Amino acid sequence: MSDASNIAMAGAGGSQDQLSQRDFNRLAGFIQDYSGIRMPPNKVTLVEGRLRRRVRALGMPSLAQYCRHLFDEGGMPAEAVHLIDAVTTNKTDFFREPEHFRVLRDMALPQLLTGRRATGSATVKLWSAACSTGAESYTLAMVFAEFAQQRSGLSASILGTDISTEVLQVAVRATYPEATIAPVPMELRRRYLLRSRDSSRGLVRIVPALRRMTHFARLNLMEAKYPVDTDYDVVFCRNILIYFEPPVQQEVLLRLCRHLRPGGFLFLGHTESLAGFRLPLQSVASTVFRRA
Ligand SMILES: C[S@@+](CC[C@H](N)C(=O)[O-])C[C@H]1O[C@@H](n2cnc3c(N)ncnc32)[C@H](O)[C@@H]1O
Repeated sequence: MSDASNIAMAGAGGSQDQLSQRDFNRLAGFIQDYSGIRMPPNKVTLVEGRLRRRVRALGMPSLAQYCRHLFDEGGMPAEAVHLIDAVTTNKTDFFREPEHFRVLRDMALPQLLTGRRATGSATVKLWSAACSTGAESYTLAMVFAEFAQQRSGLSASILGTDISTEVLQVAVRATYPEATIAPVPMELRRRYLLRSRDSSRGLVRIVPALRRMTHFARLNLMEAKYPVDTDYDVVFCRNILIYFEPPVQQEVLLRLCRHLRPGGFLFLGHTESLAGFRLPLQSVASTVFRRA
């Protein structure tokens, strides 16, 4: 398809820069190989919308020029991180799928700690393995801090990782619009969120005590080896596997199992399952599994 065919009319909205079939296929192939995210043909409008902003930011005239830059002129190595930032779906919430946090508090943490302190270790290690802007990591931190209030000498180390550098920057800032904290129970808001002095900004920040127990790093779940510890007590990997093909899901789950200590807990999103996979995991609650 010629470059001219990339520019097409988009109804009443006027002309819109569009992707040729060939460029969409090249992008979809790269995105799937690099990040695991499936890009079927019905995602073309979504990809176009997200990349138009990036094309504008680079001052390029069109998506066709952007694709030429990526695939024909050697631009991909420098641009891959930004391309992936643009196409990932980062929807998240504090206390998303709240039943998981009840299972963490009432089942996982008590079981993990049974006998642990007798051995002298009282640090619980948690990993949010597609953490987006950090709402999941800080929810883990709040739930842990509440749990630890009644028990002296307990601490937590929480790692949040994601493929997108943009969301990780938000996570490190730990500052969120007030509207996003609606799911946080009032008492926890009082204990763990700080309002900005200038109330017109409508921002809250996670308290230093929780920020200190939480750290963030870029990690692509497609990597053959994850450069993180192999003794996590709890891994949350929620609402990401649905974007992958089943064989990729199985590979990612196998790798995650290598980073869970025996008896550790894996939490998946409510629409994700292990059906058909052979993994060293036992179901202990809805979409919650324990490492054998
Ligand atoms: C829909 S969000 C889910 C966030 C959070 N786990 C939750 O359930 O609220 C999915 C996240 O996975 C990240 N992601 C996509 N592909 C990834 C990959 N290959 N490795 C690591 N993270 C990835 C995206 O950047 C996005 O932030």
